Amino acid sequence: MDFSDILSFISGRSSVREYESEPVPQEEIDYILDCASTAPSAGNIEAWDVVVVTDEETRAALAEAAFNQPHIEQAPVILAVCSNYVRSMSRYGERGILYALEDATIACTYMMLAAHARNLQSCWTGAFDDDAVRDVLGLPQHIRPVALLAIGKGHTPGQLTGRMAVGEHVHRETW
Ligand SMILES: Cc1cc2nc3c(=O)[nH]c(=O)nc-3n(C[C@H](O)[C@H](O)[C@H](O)COP(=O)(O)O)c2cc1C
Repeated sequence: MDFSDILSFISGRSSVREYESEPVPQEEIDYILDCASTAPSAGNIEAWDVVVVTDEETRAALAEAAFNQPHIEQAPVILAVCSNYVRSMSRYGERGILYALEDATIACTYMMLAAHARNLQSCWTGAFDDDAVRDVLGLPQHIRPVALLAIGKGHTPGQLTGRMAVGEHVHRETW
């Protein structure tokens, strides 16, 4: 990869919601998790955790918890990325709630881009019932599920989506 051209790498990714059933090799999952573990985090506390789900029944239960989004059942791997409030709040108190969410979303972003680098497709999925996901995965109370990242070989190529003009986000010096 030409590292000077990260824009063309990241802009070639798009969300995919239809997957082949073939499993993702364990070494690819490990690669994605290794990439996530390099993510920055507040105080280097790494207040995120992930539940790797490949079991078909568990994926079906997660899909139901995600308001019946079919790609959650169809994708061969779901990475349930979570914030770990105990890890962050034990150092940062209330501010740790925000840091744990940030740590988890950065880790999830790294996972999504690592999958892209391995020619795998993904879909970040945030619409789900927290308590239902907690039940399915047996998450303790101090763990908040933040994203279900579906990963697999896309059945159809992703469609690149448009964006707002970057200038609409940007404020110079002050708002
Ligand atoms: C926080 C967040 C929540 C999302 N939740 C869902 C979701 O529940 N279901 C879904 O199909 N896509 C979901 N997406 C994917 C977005 O729809 C998608 O990223 C956006 O439309 C831009 O398309 P692209 O990823 O193909 O560039 C989510 C993305 C983010 C970042």
